Amino acid sequence: MKDIICQLFEQRFGKEYRIYAAPGRINLIGEHTDYNGGFVFPGAIDKYMMTAIQPNGLDKVRVESVDMKDYCEFGLREEDAPTQQWARYIFGVCREIQKRGFLVKGFDAVMAGRVPLGAGLSSSAALESCFAFALNDLFNEGKIDKFELARIGQSTEHNYVGVICGIMDQFASIFGKEECLMRLDCRSMEFEYFPFKPAGYRLVLVNSKVKHELVDSPYNKRRQSCENVAKVLGVETLRDAEMDDLEKIKGSISEEDFMRARYVIGEKQRVLDVCAALERGDYETVGERMYQTHWGMSRDYEVSCEELDFLNNIAKSCGVTGSRIMGGGFGGCTINLVKEERYEAFVAAVMDQFPKKYNVRPEIIPVVISNGAHREA
Ligand code: GLA
Repeated sequence: MKDIICQLFEQRFGKEYRIYAAPGRINLIGEHTDYNGGFVFPGAIDKYMMTAIQPNGLDKVRVESVDMKDYCEFGLREEDAPTQQWARYIFGVCREIQKRGFLVKGFDAVMAGRVPLGAGLSSSAALESCFAFALNDLFNEGKIDKFELARIGQSTEHNYVGVICGIMDQFASIFGKEECLMRLDCRSMEFEYFPFKPAGYRLVLVNSKVKHELVDSPYNKRRQSCENVAKVLGVETLRDAEMDDLEKIKGSISEEDFMRARYVIGEKQRVLDVCAALERGDYETVGERMYQTHWGMSRDYEVSCEELDFLNNIAKSCGVTGSRIMGGGFGGCTINLVKEERYEAFVAAVMDQFPKKYNVRPEIIPVVISNGAHREA
């Protein structure tokens, strides 16, 4: 990938450039908790978005996307927003940096990625983090701190893409560390690195290939439900609510909002349970919680789909330790914690049963927990 973007950059813009990369992420547990002030447990992965980039001395950005096979030019004022969706992410990052009083001048860039699109691995956060990191380095001597870089990506989603997402994906893409998951408290923004190398287990993703697209998905609606319930409870976010509180107001909220909140409040506890279990090497409990999360996301939060439920059932029937839908939902991957000795049989069952039912070959994606955004060269 690096070779391709270097070659293209040289052909189009010249021999001087820097290279930056930022990864996608997985999340062991803690889904839809970030915008509820709760805990998440992500890690960056060895699938990156990468850009070759160089200031061009002009007042415009010229950027080529290898994956989109597309080229775009845009200025840096609010009214210069490009029409191509992929370029809006970059434009958004530029504008959010400027809004914070930092500098962005014209630049040339070629970009490409190895984060599968629409698979729930946060390709968009990888893209935002890659440019936020690069533009901080190129024009601001690295003065924007890492949390602000993550917020720049998040605000890009809110203001230029239309997904009112939480902070997890951009945080993971910026702060990721080799062989470590991170437990982030999304209320205080305190976090801890957790070394994660479960001996005798593999972490494997199965991509259902059901296209996951949070833009236009009911993602924002889920968030709205949570806010409705928090308001009735008189708390800032569901982080401050317990199951008992929820039961007490059951009659005064809609059945749907009740189910959404029941999932979120349960999930808050499950993240803490998983952390405690990891500390004592108890992967059985980790796995159990993962299955519970799947159930909650499927039945209460209703962000699963038939194909992902089917994959979850295969995992269960193969004795996989833990399995659940990962990320925002509505398609994408399941994340599976599998004992070494069950791995082959699990993969074989998935590759046999899923295509028979849905006429689609799912993709097994092995992941390595890796470093966050960085300069490559
Ligand atoms: C998407 C959002 C995140 C988070 C997850 C669900 O990935 O971008 O902020 O809400 O969904 O956990």
